[in-house]
Amino acid sequence: LDIDGYYLPTFDKIIPKQEEVVRSIRTWKARDDDVLVCAYPKSGTHWLWEVISMLLNGSANRINLIKETAMLEGLTQPMYDNIKSPRVLNSHIYFRMLPEDFVKRKCKIVHILRNPKDVAVSFYNHHFKILEYEYSGKWENYFRRFINGQVDYGSWFDYTLDWEKVIQDNSDYPIHIITYEDMKKDDTKEIKQLARFLGVKEDEELIKSIAEACDFERMKKEKNPLEMATSDEWRGKEPGMYRKGQVGDWKNWFTVAQNELFDTAYAERMKNSKFQFRSMVC
Ligand code: A3P
Repeated sequence: LDIDGYYLPTFDKIIPKQEEVVRSIRTWKARDDDVLVCAYPKSGTHWLWEVISMLLNGSANRINLIKETAMLEGLTQPMYDNIKSPRVLNSHIYFRMLPEDFVKRKCKIVHILRNPKDVAVSFYNHHFKILEYEYSGKWENYFRRFINGQVDYGSWFDYTLDWEKVIQDNSDYPIHIITYEDMKKDDTKEIKQLARFLGVKEDEELIKSIAEACDFERMKKEKNPLEMATSDEWRGKEPGMYRKGQVGDWKNWFTVAQNELFDTAYAERMKNSKFQFRSMVC
């Protein structure tokens, strides 16, 4: 779907008149206890959605739904209204496209950041493996598209800079930033901070159980059957939402020249950014 040059995946089987629906998201009503996970695709949305859902449930029991059932741009308004509270919503669209009511009610937002080099590799595999994309392009070509923002949800640079501005301009807004790399390094520490941000009890045992239940291999094993049953068709019949789950896989994909090109683009596009997150120096 192309909305004034902004690409979104097409969900026309679920959402007839998708463009109209996406444009209407701005007017959807929020609930005070809604939590929204916002990230550029492939930054760890499934992981954090599961963790936050468990924290709000006060239990490390597996969430029996896939996160796409709560992804704003993949829903119609009735579907959105029917989600039971407390809702853990998620989205990859810009802040300015989200329900205005969210901002009015100051609903909590968790924003995830991930090293864009790993995001690029993960997104390439995503496009390649979901059959509906009918994409069989080579990594070297996708890499160019990614740098130029000619991919779903547009440019990583634009999206990240936009969120930085949103955070600067709304200093009284409850936005918690978390990086994929910090989660990999010390998940219990990050989950504890999340619990504090969400205002739920910081129960050490529960936090430990959630970290274990959301460990990559366990999530992959336990969520894949759900992915298989309810979402896209995958190349090789193997769902790819849980692919590798590592920091630094880009080193297996980027050539030296691509890495230099990316670093140059990063330095140029992010030169005024004050975002100091570790993922950027990986
Ligand atoms: P890779 O393709 O690098 O493996 P999103 O959920 O935003 O679509 O992000 C998907 C990325 O997060 C994929 O990265 C996926 O494997 C990784 N991921 C999913 N669950 C994870 C988990 N429990 N722990 C670590 N990484 C996870």
